[in-house]
Amino acid sequence: MSLPEKVTLIEVGPRDGLQNETNLIPTDVKITFIRALMKAHIQEMELTSFVSPKWVPQMSDAEAILEACLDSSMIRQFVLAPNQKGLERFYASHAREVAVFVGVSNSFNKKNINKSTDESLNELKPLIKELKDNGKFVRACISTAFYCPYEGKIQPEAVYQLCETFAGYEVDELSVADTIGMANPKDVYEVFSELKTRLSDSVLITGHFHNTRGTALANIYASLEAGITRFDSSAGGLGGCPFAPGASGNVATEDVLFMLEEMGIETGIDRQRLLEAVDLVKPSITRPLDSKQYQLYRKESSSR
Ligand code: HMG
Ligand code: MG
Repeated sequence: MSLPEKVTLIEVGPRDGLQNETNLIPTDVKITFIRALMKAHIQEMELTSFVSPKWVPQMSDAEAILEACLDSSMIRQFVLAPNQKGLERFYASHAREVAVFVGVSNSFNKKNINKSTDESLNELKPLIKELKDNGKFVRACISTAFYCPYEGKIQPEAVYQLCETFAGYEVDELSVADTIGMANPKDVYEVFSELKTRLSDSVLITGHFHNTRGTALANIYASLEAGITRFDSSAGGLGGCPFAPGASGNVATEDVLFMLEEMGIETGIDRQRLLEAVDLVKPSITRPLDSKQYQLYRKESSSR
């Protein structure tokens, strides 16, 4: 067993977590949530998205969120942007880090950003070059890396090729996603081991697991064994993509934290404060939260 001493958790609750909520969450609640997550010593976070407000109305307050929450004491604060217009909004903001996103599956990419995967790559290639020329940190989110809600199982070779293409564009990070929570630890180990072999150490590799079928923690463990030390997770287990039917929440940050803490792996995050942050957003969420640690915390709080 070869496990790391430290792991970085990238909090995606304010973006992936909230984008799938159908009721519009007030901007001030989102800001309070983000600030509480920062108080829990989260060092990297996706704050919001510069996407079409017609496609994802929940993210239409992106500028206001950034205005209130950008904080240079954090290591990285990402905003998602899928296209030229999104990047224009990024340049107009003071955000430092950006995340682009593309699906391995053509059908998913069409549903998600109205372009084929190749069309997205053609659009993004010069935009990423410009970002890199301007010294920006670029994260590329690789969706449907294991299964697609429309095409089924994805061939690993297609994932390797897409990741190699982005590495050729000199992105700083690849966040490789199990969008609908169908991956199993065996496949995850194989895909991440191969990516570690094929890609140079100059690109960070991150695992992004949705917990639709309860396999996310096992998939994180398999990734650790493959040498991955960065994971996206979402406070409360919020999350899902509105254009990926069947996708439920991301793995809950507090559940990952518990597992890592028990294994003696450091993250620097304060679990109690993280649970308090979930308490702040919970009244605005209309569905039950999938997080085991949060359920225990609520039970213990109410029996006190
Ligand atoms: P489109 O309709 O093809 O866009 O949508 P268009 O280029 O034809 O433009 C139509 C209108 O949208 C124009 O406005 C544009 O200005 C505007 P109009 O002239 O009609 O007034 N527009 C924009 N407005 C604001 N920001 C923008 C923008 N772009 C165009 N960036 C588009 C194409 C990409 C915009 C749309 O499909 C879209 O917004 N998609 C986003 C979908 C999304 O947010 N998905 C969730 C995030 S990805 C995810 O969750 C997966 C991940 O977690 C990993 C995993 O789990 O797999 C990362
Ligand atoms: Mg996601």
